[in-house]
Amino acid sequence: MSNKQWYRVNNEEKLMTPALLIYPSRVKNNIESMISISGNVNRLIPHVKTYKMPAIVKMQMSYGIKEFKCATLGELQMLISCGVNHILLAIQPTREKVIRILNFQKKYPEITFSTLVDNLDSLVLFSNLAKSKNLKINLWLDINNGMNRTGIVLEYASKLYMTLFKDHNINILGIHVYDGHIRPSELQKRIELCNKSFEPVKDLIVKIKKLGGEIPEIITGGSPSFYPHSLNKINRLSPGTTLLWDLGYQKIWNESPFKHAAVLATRLISKPNTNIMCFDIGHKAVASEMSLPRLEIIGLEEALHVGQNEEHLIVEHKYADNFKVGDLFYAIPYHICPTVAKYSKAYTVTEGDLGPFWEIEARDYQQGI
Ligand SMILES: Cc1ncc(COP(=O)(O)O)c(C=O)c1O
Repeated sequence: MSNKQWYRVNNEEKLMTPALLIYPSRVKNNIESMISISGNVNRLIPHVKTYKMPAIVKMQMSYGIKEFKCATLGELQMLISCGVNHILLAIQPTREKVIRILNFQKKYPEITFSTLVDNLDSLVLFSNLAKSKNLKINLWLDINNGMNRTGIVLEYASKLYMTLFKDHNINILGIHVYDGHIRPSELQKRIELCNKSFEPVKDLIVKIKKLGGEIPEIITGGSPSFYPHSLNKINRLSPGTTLLWDLGYQKIWNESPFKHAAVLATRLISKPNTNIMCFDIGHKAVASEMSLPRLEIIGLEEALHVGQNEEHLIVEHKYADNFKVGDLFYAIPYHICPTVAKYSKAYTVTEGDLGPFWEIEARDYQQGI
């Protein structure tokens, strides 16, 4: 098989489109690259939101990765069933979810469960709930160092940290900093911005230590800041998209060692007018939170994506005549995490051959409720 066509399936007639295809050998390559950048497998606490598949969690476990981040209770339950050592629910939970976490903590004492906190009300709630169950809750202080999504601003962080540190119902694991706002495509600029945004976090660490606090660990970043943070040897690293890699991040980190390991398959289903092609890949089959284009069709990179609705993607292409209805195409999505969640299972492809399906077990918010 030529390198250019690594994505091609031998028995294309077996593919029911639209479809999500996963290439296990490329996922392995990505895991190896993550470990190589980290320098030590124990630094990694990868996010599972990108793939939501037990098969990929287990593949990482076979490399010695034992701790994972998740964003939903469905992902958390998938990680329990995989038998990982530590599950960080990396989104500040509300009451009903904290109760769930504490119940899981009782039921599975061999697993460490932890989550984030960024305000005093939640801290008090978590502490009281833990006390009522005779447990200690494991918490990370979530810091806002510029993304303005969640987290406490640095100014108030040391005070809240010390309150956590002194609370007998809380086991403080450290600080958590997610800096998804760091997106320059030039590596040097990304490193500089990452370091600049992290400078006040370093000051915070010094301040907490002066106040008598201890910070067991610091978790930083996603994929764009993965390499910059890997240079700062003291912290843990938590990328997610690196496992499957998508076009959005490829454009930010072009020289990365990560390979696209998830591809979409789609068929041309109509040619309603001159130079217009319609594919069976609507926004029910690819992440659509951004404007068009939402995927790049291999071989039709120059096409103008003019419209997409639930089941249809319309593109204009000057060589539309070269293609006929029924032709199969492969495409790389711009944003893989929400794309995966559109599918209940993925075809696996090894050296062109279709293998067993991989279940997207944790695609569902309602799972286990
Ligand atoms: C808290 C947190 N950590 C890690 C990640 C993984 O980041 P990325 O998708 O850039 O790999 C995300 C992604 O949204 C996240 O929200």
